[in-house]
Amino acid sequence: MKRRIHDRVVHSDRPSHHRRRMGGRLLTLAALATITVLVLSACGPEVSKPYSTTSPASPTADDIQSLYKLVFWLALVVFVGVQFAIVYTALRFRRTKHSATRPPQVHGNKRLEIMWTIIPAVVLLAILIPTITTLYEHDAAAEEGDLVVDVYGKQWWWEVQYREDQTQDGQNLGVVSANEIHLPVGKEAIINLHTNNVIHSFWVPRLSGKMDLIPGHVNKLSITPTESGEYFGECAEFCGTQHAWMRFKIIVEPQDQFYTWINAERTGNPAILSADDPVPAGFERAPQALGVCLSCHTVTGVGQPGRNGIEAEANYGPNLTNLSCRDTIAAGMLVNNRENLETWIDDPGAVKPGNHMATVITPGYIREQLGDEEFNALIDYLMGLEPAGGCDAAASGATPAASPASSPAALPEGTPAPGT
Ligand code: CUA
Repeated sequence: MKRRIHDRVVHSDRPSHHRRRMGGRLLTLAALATITVLVLSACGPEVSKPYSTTSPASPTADDIQSLYKLVFWLALVVFVGVQFAIVYTALRFRRTKHSATRPPQVHGNKRLEIMWTIIPAVVLLAILIPTITTLYEHDAAAEEGDLVVDVYGKQWWWEVQYREDQTQDGQNLGVVSANEIHLPVGKEAIINLHTNNVIHSFWVPRLSGKMDLIPGHVNKLSITPTESGEYFGECAEFCGTQHAWMRFKIIVEPQDQFYTWINAERTGNPAILSADDPVPAGFERAPQALGVCLSCHTVTGVGQPGRNGIEAEANYGPNLTNLSCRDTIAAGMLVNNRENLETWIDDPGAVKPGNHMATVITPGYIREQLGDEEFNALIDYLMGLEPAGGCDAAASGATPAASPASSPAALPEGTPAPGT
């Protein structure tokens, strides 16, 4: 009796156990399929993925893409070959009921040893030779170009200085900006990478490979963007607390738009700080509170040109000329609008902990010092830092004052080129 019950239990348990195992397998398969789809969907060439390396937009990025494809196809051939050999060997030489003796042992087989040393060596050489050639070609290309741009890695933002322009007889463009790098389409820009603090890495996946910024050494990168558009970049070397928020953007535009932008930056935002002096034509009165900002920041046309580049300590802030035309503030962290600017200036440490501005501006400090009215006036002024006719009008040349330029305008008499 006891035994029959036991039998029945075991018997009835079998199908459900089997069903559970089947269900488990199906679940695993479904999970694997989902993961595969998700992983593969990340490989698409759509431009909506701004940090994708699979949609190159410069010859340099094209070269890198070709190397990637070479490695991919070689790896695929090796993978398929090895899998085939494993499956074939397992089936062909599996132990059967009739195999009484051990199969012949191949340990120390000279022919096999030579074969599986030479094949990987050939594969590695096939990758090494084009890789080294490409590296040297890119290095050589970075020696000379149409436009020199000095980029300084700061903690945690990028200073950008526009230098010699060979298409304009080597004239120094003399513009200093931050985080948003404008480049003319089809022209070769030589990006000189500097830092006076820690090591950073400059990376715009769609335009170029990574290049480190090393204190005491200038690295060069050649970028010739072939299509207008916006290309997103980031710092690719851990450089402190806010490394993840050290983003930037390269804005590639037709040459006339580029020079219109350069001219707007050169003109800056003429304003006087003194409360008593009369305001000359073409100038505006800046709120006196701006004076505090100007101890670290520069606004071209207001006060003295600030220190920048390698001479500036790491904590001197971004150049704010035409700030209103930038898409983001705090190096890609916040969308540039009134509300965010207010939040940022009110308590920079809460927005981006560890940043240098937060060591000077404690929570609510500026608002407390100025009172609500003056604080709002300061924000209004900063939000109004834009070229005559506005940012969009200047870019499209919609106003006569900002008609698209084919070359940079002469600097006003007596003004030193910014950034020299
Ligand atoms: Cu700069 Cu990471």
